[in-house]
Amino acid sequence: ELCGRSAECSIHLEVIVDRPLQVFHVEVEVKDINDNPPVFPATQKNLFISETRALDSHFSLEGASDADVGTNALLTYRLSPNEYFSLKVPTNDEQVKPLELVLKKPLDREVASEVLLVLKATDGGKPELTGTVEILITVLDVNDNAPVFDKAVYRVKLLENARNGTLVIRLNASDLDEGPNSHILYFFETDTSPNIEASFRIDSDSGEIKVNGKIDFEETKLWKIQIKAIDKGNPPMFGHCTILIEVLDINDNAPELVITSLALAVREDAPLGTVIALISVTDPDSSANGQVTCTLTSYVPFKLVSTFKNYYSLVLDSTLDRESISHYELVVTARDGGSPSLWATASVSVEVADVNDNAPAFPQPEYTVFVK
Ligand SMILES: *[C@@H]1O[C@H](CO)[C@@H](O)[C@H](O)[C@H]1NC(C)=O
Ligand SMILES: *[C@@H]1O[C@H](CO)[C@@H](O)[C@H](O)[C@H]1NC(C)=O
Repeated sequence: ELCGRSAECSIHLEVIVDRPLQVFHVEVEVKDINDNPPVFPATQKNLFISETRALDSHFSLEGASDADVGTNALLTYRLSPNEYFSLKVPTNDEQVKPLELVLKKPLDREVASEVLLVLKATDGGKPELTGTVEILITVLDVNDNAPVFDKAVYRVKLLENARNGTLVIRLNASDLDEGPNSHILYFFETDTSPNIEASFRIDSDSGEIKVNGKIDFEETKLWKIQIKAIDKGNPPMFGHCTILIEVLDINDNAPELVITSLALAVREDAPLGTVIALISVTDPDSSANGQVTCTLTSYVPFKLVSTFKNYYSLVLDSTLDRESISHYELVVTARDGGSPSLWATASVSVEVADVNDNAPAFPQPEYTVFVK
């Protein structure tokens, strides 16, 4: 306190003695003892360092001060063991320079977002005194991580005729960065077909893909949508994934019947097996929903014969007799295997053509006529 940092410290006193009057000069020399520890300007120091800083970058630090003098104020510094920084202490003849931290391993915010160091100053007194400062290094994020989907391909099943607004999938990519660098927006890839954009919509913020138009199994059975995720970093980074949407059939199409009839009357003596009409059925639904069986009105002398998948012939099954029935109105019913099943009918009319198979007949074999 008396002499500050000067090494010499003495107090000059004059001692006056009475009888006889005399003046004594007294010089009191104050010797330093190590009663002051090294003191840093603050107990904690915050540094903000970008994760892209190059190796060997230097960061200045203020050193400690020690109110003592000489070796009692001769400071040595020690940095707590750590993998990222080393300490550079100026040599004695350049004491004006500050201490420096030197980066010796690249920082990565995604591995360590903060590094806490303790810098300790020790003076040269006996016993020695120490002072410490905590250095908290916050690693600043840069956009060095792209958004990542947890799968490259997502498979989704969707019923056809799903209503407008039905949720197909909620995408969720992750980005190791923080703040805007990890804020992800979702889009269809730029070359997405107008067809996909008409049928589905994507919410850029939530990543939800919803049905927007008509989903028709008979038109498209599998949709393949390419998605990109973009973070809000500058410059942004991209992630990609593919969504395969398998459309599941529902029985929304009734069978259709086409009857090709010969439109001629059938002779009543036509042999069994004569083909009367050709019938083809179609149903665009898949599997059971599209499997059609045909049936014919019961108790008629005709039957359906399957000639090929979904093709039938209407053939004569027993003998005709125009004299008892000259006209048949037949109904063909086609029914699919869906549940509930859908059906369609078509009618065929068959005229029986006469053949001269009846001789003229008299009502009575014998007539007895009385003539006067
Ligand atoms: C996305 O995934 C992360 C972890 O992977 C989770 O914390 C978050 O809740 C998910 N978000 C949604 C909307 O599913
Ligand atoms: C489906 O709903 C969205 C939003 O409610 C609307 O913009 C779109 O036109 C609808 N699509 C159809 C085909 O009605």
